Amino acid sequence: MFIGLDLGTSGVRALLVDGEGAVLASADRGLQVSHTQPGWSEQNPQDWVTASREALQELHAKAQAEMAQVQGIGLSGQMHGATLLDADGAVLRPCILWNDTRSHVQAAALDVMADVRALSGNIVFPGFTAPKLMWVAEHEPDVFAKVAKVLLPKDYLSFWLTGRAASDMSDSAGTSWLDVGARGWSDRLLAAGNMRRDQMPDVIEGTDVIGTLRPDLAQELGLSADVQVVAGGGDNAASACGVGALREGDGFVSLGTSGVILAARSGFHPDPGSAVHTFCHAVPGRWYQMGVMLAATDSLNWLAGITGASPADLTAELSDLRLPSNVRFLPYLSGERTPHNDSAVRGAFVGLDIATDRAELTQAVLEGVSFGLRDSFEALRGTGADLPALLAIGGGTGSRYWVELLATILGVPLQLPAQGEFGAALGAARLAMCGVTGDDPLQIMTKPDIAETIDPNTHHSAAFDEAYAAFRSSYPALKAMP
Ligand code: XUL
Repeated sequence: MFIGLDLGTSGVRALLVDGEGAVLASADRGLQVSHTQPGWSEQNPQDWVTASREALQELHAKAQAEMAQVQGIGLSGQMHGATLLDADGAVLRPCILWNDTRSHVQAAALDVMADVRALSGNIVFPGFTAPKLMWVAEHEPDVFAKVAKVLLPKDYLSFWLTGRAASDMSDSAGTSWLDVGARGWSDRLLAAGNMRRDQMPDVIEGTDVIGTLRPDLAQELGLSADVQVVAGGGDNAASACGVGALREGDGFVSLGTSGVILAARSGFHPDPGSAVHTFCHAVPGRWYQMGVMLAATDSLNWLAGITGASPADLTAELSDLRLPSNVRFLPYLSGERTPHNDSAVRGAFVGLDIATDRAELTQAVLEGVSFGLRDSFEALRGTGADLPALLAIGGGTGSRYWVELLATILGVPLQLPAQGEFGAALGAARLAMCGVTGDDPLQIMTKPDIAETIDPNTHHSAAFDEAYAAFRSSYPALKAMP
């Protein structure tokens, strides 16, 4: 038996799986995010502990006998957050989260320093960890002076579970302190960010054991005294483990609040100029790359909100795949990461006609988001990633119209998994399994059963290629507007 514990931004999920990886029970607890100033986004690490404790207690109540047989706990979590600890391990201030943009000035300064992009493999985004510490040094020098350790969110949970400060490669890759190609802390990057090596946790592979569960917690949670806590991975890497995306050619597109296209890589092929993220994978000797768009289903949710219809009502108004709309939607409602790295840009509708109705606006929104994902897909291709098909996951895949449209715009078949669990919590449980048993991740991290494969609509492909070219020309025009 193994437990995957996933610390998301909106909640914690604890998942109990058996030795074959089959799910036996799950428990969820919600989390709040506090936004005390525009652009700020923080959580209290104690809330993560409380939510995790309650979720583990619920698992115990649901499956007492199985919990006593648990051999390992694996972690996954929201990336980039800065949890600052003093020399006694006490939390110094609320954690500054991945979607907090207060440190954009520091990020821009670090991004242009010599070697930073080359070693970290990435643009220094404002959400990454290093610029957050530079912000704290500038604005809260008393706090900065006391920082003895910086932990990523899920690593604070493994610190609570074991007493050891450790992190895995996939999560550490999002700090701008890690040499992502060499898989180790970089003295050059640490110096650029004004940090020291002793302030970093031990960095290990996602399948490595951090330590044994604290005896008091084992007793409290009804777990055995020799449960091993395994490092795990950042949420996207853990999700890739959950869907078996480890090898070249494996990848997924996620139509969630934000949109992600992820490609597993067997080598390190950074391309920071395209705003593609290049991170270590959660399994040894592998990497992954992804393009991130900030408003995917969020764009449809926005249209639903202002038209008073539900997203499902809106997409139900579209039946057979239509030719590209004359109305163009630029999906930058929250700015954009890949390929523009532009937090200031905002969205637009272009080409509205007196005859434009609600269904056409929905069509334009789905097309604009899909074109934005094609931008990420092209950026990934530019690094040499070859993705002949993609698994399609996330809430947006509930619309058959959207999946066929996206397959047509990307030009690859999209595979819809059968119902079941395949998220980051499952990936974390699988990492725990590999860590404890020493089994080969390639054997353990299997792909989900595919319920249906949706092929590109070849009758419409040429029209959508042409419409994509027009979409590409819109961002510079938008930026040129006063
Ligand atoms: C990845 C990223 C998000 C967070 C929150 O770069 O910012 O995926 O990990 O989920």
